[in-house]
Amino acid sequence: MSEFQINRRALGGLALGATALGLGACEPTAKTDLQPASRQFPKDFVWGVASAAFQIEGSQQADGRGKSIWDTFERIPGKIIDGSTASIATDSYNRFGEDIDLIKAAGLGAYRFSMSWPRIVPTGQGAVNAAGLDYYERLVDGLLAKDIVPYATLYHWDLPQALQDKGGWANRDTALRLADYASVIGQRLGDRLKRFIVLNEAAAQSILGHLLGMHAPGLKDPALLGPVIHHMNLGQGLAIQALRASQSDLSIGTTFALQPVRASGGDLAVWNRPAAEGLDALSNRAWLDPALKGTYPKRVSDLIGKALMDGDMATIHQPIDFAGVNYYAPAYVKLDLSSPSKIALAKPPKGSELDAFGRHIDPSGLAEVLGWLRKDYGNPQVMITENGCSDPFSSKPAIIKDTFRITYIRRHLEAALTAKAAGSALNGYFVWTLLDNFEWALGYTSKFGLVAHDRATGVRTLKDSFGWVASLAKSGTLPSRP
Ligand code: FCB
Repeated sequence: MSEFQINRRALGGLALGATALGLGACEPTAKTDLQPASRQFPKDFVWGVASAAFQIEGSQQADGRGKSIWDTFERIPGKIIDGSTASIATDSYNRFGEDIDLIKAAGLGAYRFSMSWPRIVPTGQGAVNAAGLDYYERLVDGLLAKDIVPYATLYHWDLPQALQDKGGWANRDTALRLADYASVIGQRLGDRLKRFIVLNEAAAQSILGHLLGMHAPGLKDPALLGPVIHHMNLGQGLAIQALRASQSDLSIGTTFALQPVRASGGDLAVWNRPAAEGLDALSNRAWLDPALKGTYPKRVSDLIGKALMDGDMATIHQPIDFAGVNYYAPAYVKLDLSSPSKIALAKPPKGSELDAFGRHIDPSGLAEVLGWLRKDYGNPQVMITENGCSDPFSSKPAIIKDTFRITYIRRHLEAALTAKAAGSALNGYFVWTLLDNFEWALGYTSKFGLVAHDRATGVRTLKDSFGWVASLAKSGTLPSRP
């Protein structure tokens, strides 16, 4: 997620061990933009928007929903930059019909939303909350009634607090509970909900939530990282099995947060390369390798240690129908001798074009990560499950004339088309996000929506990017300028 890529604090405590100098770190490319030979997307290309339950639903106490780790975390003073909570958010628990109408008005054929585990299984295991399932049934039926294909993310960071109280993702049992929860959903909704994304950006939750303390569950314990990585991967494999057992005709993927990790200082700073390799292993390969190859990179398996049990890698290495890619920006890192991992995040090279958070706007990074999947991972079917940018003016009212957003999306789609022409099996693109919403630790100061949301009145106002995306989805032709 965004902060994952912008935080410049030392990534202390990764304990990745000694890293050898060598290949692997990606050097900054001189050229950020790629021009595709054709600007035409295929007719069956999937256009959609993405969201996450905790960021939009609100209604945290409604109809038997249990507490999640984010309910706890957002109330710890100082954790959310503007002191806000998601207790109302965009009120999509009540106003999902308006969300659907907006998606329909944009002519988008797909909606990626996430299901709230504590709404469906309030304590994370055992009793199922029928009212929670009913909500998602209404949402799914509402989408289908308007010919919008639902893509449901099973887990977008909102772990039931009751499971965290037993150790959360550091506890192997959580992986098994994810599978139970997946099975409940598959059995109840799998007759019409056919497309699933199991995990969202497990890398971000493991690092920001367990090492840097910036996201729920707010821990800063390097010793947790290995077990957390492994149990999230294991839970993913078990959940895929459980979904397939519940219905035979599901299309199941998972979403990776992919970012090229580049050594600060480029060619001249060879000493920064091991740091880049370390973060690349942790944020990219610790997730791609087990899911798509059934292995861990050496330095990641060193971290996992005894958490790995016989048979786990086979369980994790399930066939998937598509890989979801979330891409926002590359990361830059440098060697930091004061941290045990020797890794610190660094600034992009001087002169780079930056977004509101100081991240490098670099569409070529999207083509690069799609290239990894094509060349290193057997060229799976791919959907870009998130891409987008936030308003540059943070806490000021949302900007309606958001040409910067249109430009960002257009340039990233040029990179996507270039990768597609090179052979990537890219089938879809989801803008993050429909409505300005609760952006985790950044509260409401970071607005990514195609639609502005007035928190005082609930009024939703279309931004220019909404119309631009609508006309793109209709024609399938990428314009050459905003
Ligand atoms: C992604 C997260 C999503 C949102 C966007 C901006 O990393 O998956 O929930 O925060 O960043």
